[in-house]
Amino acid sequence: MTTDATAPTAENDLLPPPASVFVAGHRGLVGSAVTRRLTADGYDVLTRTRAELDLRDAAATAAYLAAARPDAVVLAAAKVGGIMANSTYPVQFLEDNLRIQLSVIAGAHAAGVRRLLFLGSSCIYPKLAEQPIREESLLTGELEPTNEPYALAKIAGIVQVQSYRRQFGASYVSAMPTNLYGPGDNFDLETSHVLPALIRRFHEAKEAGAPEVTLWGSGTPRREFLHVDDLASACEVLLRHYDGDGPVNVGCGDDLTIRELAETVAGVVGYDGELAWDMSKPDGTPRKLLDVSRMTALGWKPQIPLREGIAAVYEEWRTKG
Ligand SMILES: NC(=O)c1ccc[n+]([C@@H]2O[C@H](COP(=O)([O-])OP(=O)(O)OC[C@H]3O[C@@H](n4cnc5c(N)ncnc54)[C@H](OP(=O)(O)O)[C@@H]3O)[C@@H](O)[C@H]2O)c1
Repeated sequence: MTTDATAPTAENDLLPPPASVFVAGHRGLVGSAVTRRLTADGYDVLTRTRAELDLRDAAATAAYLAAARPDAVVLAAAKVGGIMANSTYPVQFLEDNLRIQLSVIAGAHAAGVRRLLFLGSSCIYPKLAEQPIREESLLTGELEPTNEPYALAKIAGIVQVQSYRRQFGASYVSAMPTNLYGPGDNFDLETSHVLPALIRRFHEAKEAGAPEVTLWGSGTPRREFLHVDDLASACEVLLRHYDGDGPVNVGCGDDLTIRELAETVAGVVGYDGELAWDMSKPDGTPRKLLDVSRMTALGWKPQIPLREGIAAVYEEWRTKG
């Protein structure tokens, strides 16, 4: 796998503003952050709601891209969910994602789109990958079985991007973000990720005056969390300055235990009851930390400290619901 992670300069800017960028999935956590960032930096951001354009429909997607002819595409549309959704709807997690990727990447190439950034996820890496996880560990071991259909679809997307590079010289690249959080996150306890779920649990416990909150597992697994606005700035750096074959990990380079995370969230929310741990529930992988040296070599680094980011998300959710 070759990479081309040269330090950015004005001369090697591959997508200066005011280029036009179609952000697929602009209403999602990632797509909305990318839209905010690119708009603020002077790009002409193009969007379509799912009702206007179902990205699984290859013909409609190709027709839209051929008419709009953006300079670049950010593929942040996907069927996304937690363990429960992944195990209930494996067909949709495999097929919807494959279809979206086929439509958007092939449609972009047919329309002559110059640059494309495909967003995958850290779950593409082997379950037992060496930590911190380097991009080179892709396809070196077995995947976590609970989200294998989703991970395989995302791996196919990376290989699709690489194939367009090899066969057609397309300047298309992939990014693999760690666990994300940020404005507009999903707070539905049935389907949410750990961080918004903790915010909601502690907030409700505080409101109810509950003396104790019980959380799943031992609290010892280590996880990494990146504010989605930091991911959005990484996406802009990649569009402008990265043209390598390999995917690029995007994380903060630092992790903490779920117990430390829970204590931080409780502190932000102002919950001062006890934390209890239900050890009969599974812990999952002991550690999942991305090696982000490829991304930081491009001059990017995250700007939003975890506690500050959590406080902003809590404030937004508490006031806007
Ligand atoms: N969230 C994380 O922690 C995380 C971590 C690592 C990687 N990622 C990656 O980042 C990408 C975006 O994730 P996210 O968290 O932003 O997900 P999200 O909030 O669920 O947003 C996904 C977006 O895709 C759109 N979409 C889905 N199917 C579509 C279709 N058939 N046609 C048109 N639009 C469709 C959705 O539209 P509607 O609004 O109409 O539903 C939504 O706007 C995914 O590839 C994911 O793997 C996310």
